[in-house]
Formats: sequence, C-alpha cells, structure tokens
Amino acid sequence: MKKIKYTSPELSEKAQKIITADKKVLFGASTRTREIPLVVDYAQGARVTDIDGKTYLDFGAGFGVVNTGHCHPDVIKAVYEQIERLIHISGSDFYYDSQIALAEKLIAITPGSFPKKVYFGNSGAEAVEATLKIARHFTRRPRMISFIGAFHGRTFAGMTMSGSKKIQRAHFSSLIPEVYHIPFPYCYRCIFNETYPHCIKKDIDSIPLIHCLSYLTDVIFERLIDPDDVSLILVEPIQGEGGYITPPKEFLPALRKIADKFDIVLAFDEIQCGLGRTGKWFACDHVSTTPDIILLAKAIASGFPISATVGKAELMDQEVDARAWRPGSHGSTFGGNPVICAAGVVSLRIIEKELMKNTAEVGSFIKQRLIEMMKKHTIIGEVRGLGLMIGIELVRDKKTKEYFPNEITENGKNIKEVITGECFKRGLIIYGAGISSLRILPPLVITKDDAEQALKIIDEVITYVERQLL
Ligand SMILES: Cc1ncc(COP(=O)(O)O)c(C=O)c1O
Repeated sequence: MKKIKYTSPELSEKAQKIITADKKVLFGASTRTREIPLVVDYAQGARVTDIDGKTYLDFGAGFGVVNTGHCHPDVIKAVYEQIERLIHISGSDFYYDSQIALAEKLIAITPGSFPKKVYFGNSGAEAVEATLKIARHFTRRPRMISFIGAFHGRTFAGMTMSGSKKIQRAHFSSLIPEVYHIPFPYCYRCIFNETYPHCIKKDIDSIPLIHCLSYLTDVIFERLIDPDDVSLILVEPIQGEGGYITPPKEFLPALRKIADKFDIVLAFDEIQCGLGRTGKWFACDHVSTTPDIILLAKAIASGFPISATVGKAELMDQEVDARAWRPGSHGSTFGGNPVICAAGVVSLRIIEKELMKNTAEVGSFIKQRLIEMMKKHTIIGEVRGLGLMIGIELVRDKKTKEYFPNEITENGKNIKEVITGECFKRGLIIYGAGISSLRILPPLVITKDDAEQALKIIDEVITYVERQLL
C-alpha cells in the first residue's frame, strides 16, 4: 500500500524545552502514543491555549472529563468557597455536608427508584475495584463476566476486566482469576459473522436475545461455567476506549434479564458515557435499563478527581442485608474530598440545567453531518453514537472493512495518529479510539459554530489523507 507523507506537528523552542524536561522525569513520557504535542497554558470553555498563544478547539475534553467546559466560573466559585471552610478530613470516617449533597444528587439522578448507597473513590479504576468487592462480598461467588473491547482502568481489577488492547495487560500476570470475556455487540465487525437484527433468533423471558448474548447463555453458561458461580457482569453501555461502539437497543435489557435469572450483580460502567454525555443523564437511560450498580468518575467534578460507585443499598449496607460488605471492608483516605464534592454538586447542576439539551441537539447535528460526509469519503466505514459521544470508524476499504496497516507513513505512524496529528496542526484536538476509530468527545458546552469548525477540519484532513492514498 502507498505510504502517506506525514510530518509531526512542529514545536516551538519553548514547547520543546518543556517536553524535554517532562521526558526526563515523568513516567511513560518517552512512550506517549498521541500525535498531539500539546503544551498547555490555559483553557476556557471548549478552547485550549498553548504556551505559544495558539488556541485550539477541544474535542477531547481531557478524555471526557470537562463536560461543563474548562474552568467553568460556577465550579471555580464553589471550589473557592469550600476551600476556605474545609479542604480535607477524610470522608470514609467523618461527616460533612458537601459529600452528603453530592451523594444525594447522584442517588436522585441514577436509574432505579430503590434505596441506594454511594461509595466515593478517586478514579474510575477505584470504582471498578469497589464494584468487584461489593459483588463478591454479597454473592460469595468467584466468577465474573466482562467483554472483549472493554476498558475499565489500569489497576489489577481494571486490567483484569478490560479486554481492549493487549499492551494494557502484557507482562502483568497473574491477573484476578475466573473472569470470562465475551464478545461485545460490535455489529459493524460481528465476530460471529451475523447481521443485526437477523442475529436475534430467540428470546429470554420475551426479551429478544442478540446472538452475542445467546453465546453467553448457551455456550458459556452451558459448557464452561455454572451461572450460580458468577457474582458480576460488568459492562460499558457504550464502549469507550474499545472504539466508541454503541450496542443494539436489545443488548442491555437482555443482559438485565440474564442477571436477574441467575441472581448475578449487573454493573454498568458509565465512567465515560455517563453524566449527560449522550444527551441523557446515562447511556442506559436510552434503553430504560437499570443496573444494580452504576460506576461514575471522569465528569463528576469537572476535572477534580473523584469516582462514585452507586449501588442498591442491600449490596452496600450491612444494616440492609447481612451479605453486604461490612464497616472496614473498604475505604479511602481521599475519597469524597469536601472540595471535590462541592465542585461535583455544581457540575451536575450545570449539566442538568444548561447542557443536556445542547448535547442532544449539537450531538445529532454532528452525527448527521458525519453521516453525510461518510457518503463522499472512502475511508469512513461507519459513524455511530449518541449525543456528544460519536465514533468514526476508519477503514482502508469500505466494502471489505479492511483495517489500515499499522504503519501507513514512512515514519511508522498509524491512521489515527495521522488524522489526529493533522487535525491538531489545523487547530482541533481530537483523539483516536479502539483499533481504528476517532472519537468526538467535546465539552458539552460546544455550540453549532464550534461543531461546524471541527467538522470542516475533519473533512479537510480526511480529504487530504484520501488524496495521498489514490
Ligand atoms: C469506561 C471506563 N472505565 C474506567 C476507566 C478508568 O478510569 P480512570 O482512568 O479514572 O481510572 C475509564 C478511563 O478511561 C473508562 O473510560
């Protein structure tokens, strides 16, 4: 295949100096995979300005964290007010109002009208750790189900439950035993060679069963493991790092049925797809399916680190059910930090009052425009997603869905690096996802004009790449 000519974005002397200093002291700096050598000075709303004064439109939102936009004034105000009163005392052991207020709000907005409890940690991976412990403690069952393509973080529980890229797990064995990964409904590239909706050939208690899930019920649960040994099914309602993959609407309701039938705890990892990102509070709201536990992090506090594991009270409180974990079973020094909780309460208010409608509207505008763009471009295989969580799958050949070779430039870059790098040169921050996809993941504050600007750059870059492939 023809190689693409590509040069990495140029760096000023000032930027180069900082990157060199960073490389000297920071872990993994010499192995960073992104083609975006961005040295940030400050950021506001959907714009990021580098140390040379160049401003970029941000379509990455710090990996889906700054949903309210960079440095929202109301978040800053709430943080200042809290900092003057109390910075830290340890939320696992003491009492204060901002932690309670955030927990109450999360309980109110998460699906399910049953009593719930909240555990605050500091990162998405910590919510995953907590979820595994809750499910195992409650059920006393050793086995767990996860999905190919999943990403749940970098701790041992996160790594074990993930199935996205082998580099994330290589040379870290042994992982947590007894986790079975099953295919996620990635219908564009069905590994069973089935076609949705024709892959639905049966049902579970009148809920249609897509083929991937009949593989769970008929193969995994019949031949490999007894579902009575399974504590947890953990799933992303929309896969994020795995490639922005939106499953068919039958997927989550059928998983719910399976979990109910075998008394398995069902947990939705909405760390990337939750909190307004899809135009509703949660991705699972689009199919009216309620998990037993929902995992949240990233966007809770607009950039301050916090995660929340929100689950049925019976799973998380000994006073409600004797099988639940006990005082001392789990905890965290920093979890539920007062300042971060204050930022969280305000962030959720902003999303609810100002951003949910905008997300749905601008999101469907972008998706529609990308679908139109797909018709004229040879390397866009599929456009998928909800709200402002949209994936663009890049293919070498639309008919065969062939992937690009891993190295398509003379200097060994892959297609995602070329496109994100070229967008960056033109003033747009955008990330890749999965093997061969781009992700649209802007702060939820973006306007239609911002969207037009980004779409113009994406269109221009894809045209530029395609011309070289002719
Ligand atoms: C769906 C999902 N779960 C878990 C994580 C891990 O979160 P953290 O990096 O905060 O540990 C991520 C991070 O990208 C994620 O996207």
